[in-house]
Amino acid sequence: MSDSSTANKTPPAKMTAPKIRALKGDRKIRMVTAYDYPSARVADRAGADIILVGDSVANVVLGRGDTLSVTVDDMVSHTAAVATAEPKALIVGDMPWLSYHSSREETVRNAGRFVREGKAEAVKLEGGRKRVEMVAAVLDAEIPVMGHLGLTPQSVNAMGGYRVQGKQAGVAYELISDAKALEETGVFAIVLEAVPDLLANMITDELTIPTIGIGAGVGCDGQVLVYHDVLGYGEGHTAKFVRQYTNLSDIAVEAMSAFFADIDSGAFPSDAETYHMPAESAEVLEDLNKPHTSDLMADEAMER
Ligand code: KIV
Repeated sequence: MSDSSTANKTPPAKMTAPKIRALKGDRKIRMVTAYDYPSARVADRAGADIILVGDSVANVVLGRGDTLSVTVDDMVSHTAAVATAEPKALIVGDMPWLSYHSSREETVRNAGRFVREGKAEAVKLEGGRKRVEMVAAVLDAEIPVMGHLGLTPQSVNAMGGYRVQGKQAGVAYELISDAKALEETGVFAIVLEAVPDLLANMITDELTIPTIGIGAGVGCDGQVLVYHDVLGYGEGHTAKFVRQYTNLSDIAVEAMSAFFADIDSGAFPSDAETYHMPAESAEVLEDLNKPHTSDLMADEAMER
């Protein structure tokens, strides 16, 4: 017997890079970052298509000012924690700065660690034509690659800060060329970060692979935000493109304060939160713990 209510209960199938690619023109792609088991569970239960284990872990988890200090070891460890949640979403590991810049061999070795140790199903690299050689090397090792153009946080020093990219026609044209080069090389999707919507729309229209925007307007094939930004689980400045859907930090402080108030008043733990001993064992223990006659005699003898 099968009706529409049972059909709806079928668990979603595992997402793959080719399936993400095929979503272009079909429906919007949902992507969010996650860095550990519980955040991956939340993202997956909410219906993410892609979980990016972003190097933004440096900012939102480790409290650092930029992403430059995270290593392949750090990223692989966070990716493995996400993979433990066995999400239906595609797991994309973000290759950190300097892990795909010096040689094809080192790039493939590092990308391979994401897959072998972290159980990633794809990796993301920042940059356009400058990086196509490394992108090709990773693809050649049968690892799907996602591109990332526009505001690429690993280039913060070269860009002179976190700035919107492609506002000038010349720079915008360069970014279109970068996007086309990445598509030709074989990436399955491209993140467009902090670029004008007009440019994002042009790239989206010209490519046959999906674009996933973050601060790139509504015309992209999908959208991504950082987990802590969506949930308001952090402190400090957030970019103009962030929409915060709740304030987990405030909710967490409220809950934690209630716990501390219950400690102060003695309301925690309650009887139901306490382990008890069976009455017979309690009697035996009390008896065992009573001073014995021989001990009392010994004490008296000592005192004499
Ligand atoms: O590291 C990250 O979180 C990212 C997203 C902002 C796309 O690269």
